[in-house]
Amino acid sequence: MKITNITAVYFSPTGSTRKIVEELARVMADEYSVPMHTFDFTLPENRVESITFQGSDLVVFGVPVYAGRVPNKILPEIRRIFKGDGALAVPVVTFGNRSYDNALIELRNELEEGGFHTIAGGAFVAEHAFSGKLAPGRPDREDMDLVRSFAKTVADKVNEMKEIPGPVKVRGIEPIPPYYQPLGIDGRPAKFLKAKPVIGPGCIRCGKCINACPMGSINEENDELKVEGICIKCQACIKICPVRALFFDDSAFLSHVAMLEQNFSRKAENEVFPV
Ligand SMILES: Cc1cc2nc3c(=O)[nH]c(=O)nc-3n(C[C@H](O)[C@H](O)[C@H](O)COP(=O)(O)O)c2cc1C
Repeated sequence: MKITNITAVYFSPTGSTRKIVEELARVMADEYSVPMHTFDFTLPENRVESITFQGSDLVVFGVPVYAGRVPNKILPEIRRIFKGDGALAVPVVTFGNRSYDNALIELRNELEEGGFHTIAGGAFVAEHAFSGKLAPGRPDREDMDLVRSFAKTVADKVNEMKEIPGPVKVRGIEPIPPYYQPLGIDGRPAKFLKAKPVIGPGCIRCGKCINACPMGSINEENDELKVEGICIKCQACIKICPVRALFFDDSAFLSHVAMLEQNFSRKAENEVFPV
C-alpha cells in the first residue's frame, strides 16, 4: 500500500507518549520518504478543530494509560476530533510500570470506530508520572531501539499489504472492564478523584503551569495562581514548575503512590502487536 503522509498524534502531559509516538512516526516517514506531521492535542487550544485523515495516511496515535484505560476525560475529545476515513493507524499507549490493562484494546476499538484501520499496536513502558521510582528513566536506549525496530516492521508490513486486514489483535479484555481502582498502602481503595495540586508559597507566578494544564484548570486571580477546574492528576503542572512549588498533599493520593512504589518496582516489559 502506498502511504503519502505520516502523522504523529498524541496526548502527552508529561512528554513520554510524545517521545515514543514521534520516534515511531519519524522512522516510518524515513522508511517511506514521506513527510511527517504532528498533531499534539494535549492542550485545550489544540482540541478545537477536528481533523479528517484519508486512505493514504498513516497515523501513529498515542495516549498514556490512566487507571488501566484511555484517559476518561480525553476519550470524548478523541471521538470528536479525529476521523479516519480509511486511514491506517497504529494505536500506542504508554504506561508507568504497573499495567496497561485494557487501554490498548480500548484505543484500538475507538480508532476503528472513528474510521481508521488499525494495522499494528504497542504498549510501551515510561516513567510513571506519579513517581520517579517507577520505571525510572524509561523509555531508555533499549526501549527506543525497540520503538525503531517496531516502526520498521510496521513499515515493511504496510509495504507488503495488498488489502486492508482486520483490526490488529492486541492484548486486552472485551467488553472493556471498568477502570482500575487505585489502592492505598493498606490495600483498600484510595479515593482521590477530587484531589488537586497545592500551590505552595514558593510560587514565583511564572505562569508555566497555567500554560501546561491540559484541562485549562489553573488561573491567575489577584496575583495568585489557583487550580479551579477539573484536575486529571496528569502531573504536567508539577513537572513544569521551575521552583517545585506545586505538589499533592492528598493523603489518599500519596498512599496510592506509596502502594505503587512498594508493589510495582519490577521491570515491566514493552509489548508490540503483531510481534
Ligand atoms: C492519572 C494517571 C493514571 C495512571 N494510571 C496508570 C495505570 O493504570 N497503569 C500504569 O502502568 N501507569 C499509569 N500511569 C502512568 C502513566 O501511564 C505514564 O506515566 C505515562 O507514560 C505518562 O504519559 P505522558 O508522559 O505522555 O504524560 C498513570 C498516570 C497518571 C497521571
